Amino acid sequence: IGDKIGLTPALGWNSWNAWGLSVNEDKVKISAKAMADKLSAYGWNYVNIDDGWEAENRAADGAIVSNSKFPDMKRLTDYVHSLGLHTGIYSSPGPRTCGGFLGSWQHEDQDAKTYADWGFDYLKYDWCSYSEVTPPNPDLAALKKPYQLMRSSLNKVNRDIMFSFCQYGWGDVWKWGAETGGNSWRTTGDIEDTWRSMSDIGFRQDAASPYAGPGHFNDPDMLVVGKVGWGPSLHNTRLSFDEQYTHISLWSLLSAPLLIGCDMGHLDRFTLSLLTNDEVLAIDQDALGKGAMPQVKKDGYQIWVKELKDGSKAIGIFNLSDKYQTIDLDKTGDVLKGFTKYRDVWQQKFIVSTGKTFTAKVAPHGVLLVKLEK
Ligand code: GLA
Repeated sequence: IGDKIGLTPALGWNSWNAWGLSVNEDKVKISAKAMADKLSAYGWNYVNIDDGWEAENRAADGAIVSNSKFPDMKRLTDYVHSLGLHTGIYSSPGPRTCGGFLGSWQHEDQDAKTYADWGFDYLKYDWCSYSEVTPPNPDLAALKKPYQLMRSSLNKVNRDIMFSFCQYGWGDVWKWGAETGGNSWRTTGDIEDTWRSMSDIGFRQDAASPYAGPGHFNDPDMLVVGKVGWGPSLHNTRLSFDEQYTHISLWSLLSAPLLIGCDMGHLDRFTLSLLTNDEVLAIDQDALGKGAMPQVKKDGYQIWVKELKDGSKAIGIFNLSDKYQTIDLDKTGDVLKGFTKYRDVWQQKFIVSTGKTFTAKVAPHGVLLVKLEK
């Protein structure tokens, strides 16, 4: 497919899950500064503005313009770039975005050029009101069309812009997202900060998983860790600590983009620890770009396996039940075959074992994330 950018999944932040439509320049700057100070050393890089930046109407020459919350986009991207970070923007192929603001419909070339001139490095392109301008029950060609159109517009600008499709997985987008020029594509509807939402999405990714690869990744939606709220009602994520380990572990095994969705001005220590574990991030960022597949699916627990570039494997032993479980890896088929060292990557230490197997005690809704080495 010849992808040249986005060869590993994006690591970044997106404004939506914390701020919804109340995002503004200051909030983006605070997020960028926090990322530069606390996270960029670990590879975090993208600071992405979601819906809510656009004006109601275009300029006289048809150019898309930002609203009063974003007085000067170029000034903002200059600031983010000055911190050594990349920055992203959001639009829709329809006349309006999901939030009711201007979309790029019939202005694709013009908008791609504006985003490039402003200095953006990433575009999330959200279907939304495109339904109003395409026939009902769009077939595959109709589903692809708006993304092909914007892809060709982005190809005309003199800037590398990561292209993130957002249409919730319709038409098995994972099967054609790469050939249509997507660097990532959402595989689901919107995530919420509940176990039900996160686990429903995460443990259903096996259909899409085989289609992940360098430059084109499945996107099971943004992270719901830290303070989220989709607008003014910020609250700590309703996921328990163990559920958050499951969330980050599973997304990393899937080679998913990790897009933090929280209030970056108030990163607590636990959230920071989740986002700054090098060994966990290395699994997400592995150069093979494979998506994990479930090797064991039992009542109450699942084992997902991801092949890594160095010949090792990462496995997630997930406890989906409400009780502690002790899982004897000797009894889970040949998950461990060929490997003798078992690295607990959250703890960053080797598991004491007989060399042939080990036993995992996993908390309710929790995970043991293990790197299998020869
Ligand atoms: C949709 C997307 C979200 C977000 C909102 C913005 O719901 O799935 O991720 O971008 O639109 O309005």
